[in-house]
Amino acid sequence: MCSFAMESILIIGAAGQLGSELTQELANIYGGDHVIATDINPEALEKFDFCKSIRMDVMDQEAVRKVVKEENVKQIYHLAAVLSATGEKKPLFAWQLNMESLLFILELAKEEKLDKIYWPSSIAVFGPNTPKINTPQYCVKEPNTVYGISKQAGERWCEYYFQKYGVDVRSLRYPGLIGYKSLPGGGTTDYAVDIFHKAIAGEHFVSFLNEETYLPMMYMPDAIKATIDLMHAPIEDIKIRSSYNLSAMSFSPKEIYSSIKLHYPDFSISYQPDFRQAIADSWPDSIDDSHARQDWGWKHEFGLSEMTADILKHLPSFSF
Ligand code: SER
Repeated sequence: MCSFAMESILIIGAAGQLGSELTQELANIYGGDHVIATDINPEALEKFDFCKSIRMDVMDQEAVRKVVKEENVKQIYHLAAVLSATGEKKPLFAWQLNMESLLFILELAKEEKLDKIYWPSSIAVFGPNTPKINTPQYCVKEPNTVYGISKQAGERWCEYYFQKYGVDVRSLRYPGLIGYKSLPGGGTTDYAVDIFHKAIAGEHFVSFLNEETYLPMMYMPDAIKATIDLMHAPIEDIKIRSSYNLSAMSFSPKEIYSSIKLHYPDFSISYQPDFRQAIADSWPDSIDDSHARQDWGWKHEFGLSEMTADILKHLPSFSF
């Protein structure tokens, strides 16, 4: 008698900012028995009591292959990456982790004929020569961070594996993602996560970006919705196989501070730009995501004031 494991969805880097919330949503949709949260950090896996979880290092190719085969994995969400600010401190490590892991997952998807792969890209693919306002889908990129270079190269590989081998890999160029269910994770846009923690702790906030630095941003529920909508869209609707521009709002440190101050009148801020200012200055102020809106019906819900109110309602009672 032979038995077959039920089909599974594998999330790599599940304990990160995006993974923490996406894993929950995938379990809500497909059932916890069909979702496997994996991360290199075993303690961080404790929160996944609603689905399966396995400690796994994406660089350990044999371990990944074993899980994919034994658990009958049909879809992979490959979220593990070194983000922009951390990447500048460890450039070769960032390149190795971000690129080698993606190429391995694409190759595995080809060999094992997996149904679908999700891989996040970023506004970091853009660079100082990119048009800054309403940055179009197709334009000069020339990223100047290791993170951005790895995301741009990764996008080219995704398109290549789709065109040459039919691997159904889908991707979004996320703006800065802001959620309250995980702590900042080494990104340049993460000041906009940290600022909420300082506000509710009654502490002064020191911004590492200057007050007029506009960046494209998105509240996590919108990012989760975009990701699920993209992955559920009929294959013929996915016309862009590198990665889709995606947008919701754009604000500066001064504007998010003002938005929080409406709820916490004593909250204070000062500005001490550091090396992350140059990273932010090389990225767009705002993004044109009309292709995503046309091709698979993307629509965001949250602007700055709605996001601020929602985070300040939930974060004070949230336990990590
Ligand atoms: N949020 C990321 C970062 O700041 C950009 O994708 O690194």
